[in-house]
Amino acid sequence: MKILIIGGGGREHALAWSCANDPQVTAVFVAPGNAGTALEDKCENLALDVTDHAAVAEAVKRLGVEFVIVGPEAPLVAGLVDDLRAQQIPVWGPTQACAQLEGSKDFAKQFMDKNNIPTARSKTFEVVEDAIAYVEDQGAPIVIKADGLAAGKGVVVAMSEAEAIDAVKDMLGAGKFGAAGARVVIEDFLEGEEASFICMIDGQNVLPLATSQDHKRIYEGDQGPNTGGMGAYSPAPVVTGAVHDKVMERVIHPVVKAMNDAGTPYTGFLYAGLMIDQAGDPYVIEFNCRFGDPETQPVLMRLESSLPDLIQSGIKGALPAAAKWNPNPALGVVIASKGYPDDPKVGDPISGLQVISETDVKVFHAGTRMGDGGAVLSSGGRVLCVTAMGDTVAQAQSRANEICGQITLSGMQYRRDIGHQAIARELADNPARDGEI
Ligand code: AMP
Ligand code: GLY
Repeated sequence: MKILIIGGGGREHALAWSCANDPQVTAVFVAPGNAGTALEDKCENLALDVTDHAAVAEAVKRLGVEFVIVGPEAPLVAGLVDDLRAQQIPVWGPTQACAQLEGSKDFAKQFMDKNNIPTARSKTFEVVEDAIAYVEDQGAPIVIKADGLAAGKGVVVAMSEAEAIDAVKDMLGAGKFGAAGARVVIEDFLEGEEASFICMIDGQNVLPLATSQDHKRIYEGDQGPNTGGMGAYSPAPVVTGAVHDKVMERVIHPVVKAMNDAGTPYTGFLYAGLMIDQAGDPYVIEFNCRFGDPETQPVLMRLESSLPDLIQSGIKGALPAAAKWNPNPALGVVIASKGYPDDPKVGDPISGLQVISETDVKVFHAGTRMGDGGAVLSSGGRVLCVTAMGDTVAQAQSRANEICGQITLSGMQYRRDIGHQAIARELADNPARDGEI
């Protein structure tokens, strides 16, 4: 079986690795891929312009690919799934109509309001003065979001009115995110603990994947600006069985029903970014129309079912109700370049990768490329995601941090506290462990 994966980040390396682990799979093509997918067993990078949908379809036919997985949001929002389906090519991902849930925060908010899906109260603005007047009326804390795609960086959680007004001026006045910021959604600040709830949906059936939690802020202690994600772990203990049931009933099933009612059935991964309040009630912070990055890396490290089998059953509309998971936690620490998120430095050599071959650790690549003579060079803001399994989250964290310490990249940044909420819970549940960890 041959598979084509579209994308070139950490998520796509993890998807490719998971597919390649299945003995039925003979080749995984990744377009454009990264150094990780170039080096991975059975995987091959394709120099393909993925914005040229006809060229993607032509490559699928030429290479004898059985199905395509579309990883990132941009090609989904651009309608790659629609265009491949029009050529009878089996593909896993949402159509352009469904991908609007991520492509436009205003669309997502209207969709949630219409379908009674719990989320923060919000208003959308295009005129800077109106937005400022709203901020002054509402006060802080308040959250300012660029309407369109901004690689996870278009959100400012403003703790003061002045900060909120600066964000409004940056987006609506100075065009900080270009067209993506020409409209802003301003929403109430939600309190609680975040979790990532990711499902596979085949139009009708829902297969919830293992839960996870990511860390969006650049600095330890969840401080500093938002990033695409500095690390993640699975499972997320905040999603208890009761919370899981509420998310399915109040969020996921309503999305499936509403998209069917609109005549645009949802197919592919659906990611609900949630805030779980003190009472255990979930509120949607955002929808993504894809697997999370870096959540994919720890989640897939725990997957014991075959990912290609699950995706093929999803494409056929016959998803099983559950997948098999390793009960132990997995935790991924992102190594980011110097200057990330504002101004990442790229093109530097990375060393220390070759020594890592243990089965409880996997170094997924993100912004990397092959240089001369087999060198691996940084090529983006988030460079690697060092992912480890452990008997506990604390053990997985210390293993991942230990491996990060063996890798060198000039000016690299990583957080040593990924998973801190889960580790605090482990210590509270079993204080005797304190000395061991
Ligand atoms: P988003 O890109 O919409 O997921 O937002 C990025 C991050 O900003 C989220 O993961 C939260 O940490 C934070 N955030 C977004 N919206 C809110 C909100 N309404 N209240 C509190 N924090 C938020
Ligand atoms: N880790 C957050 C995201 O994938 O959007």
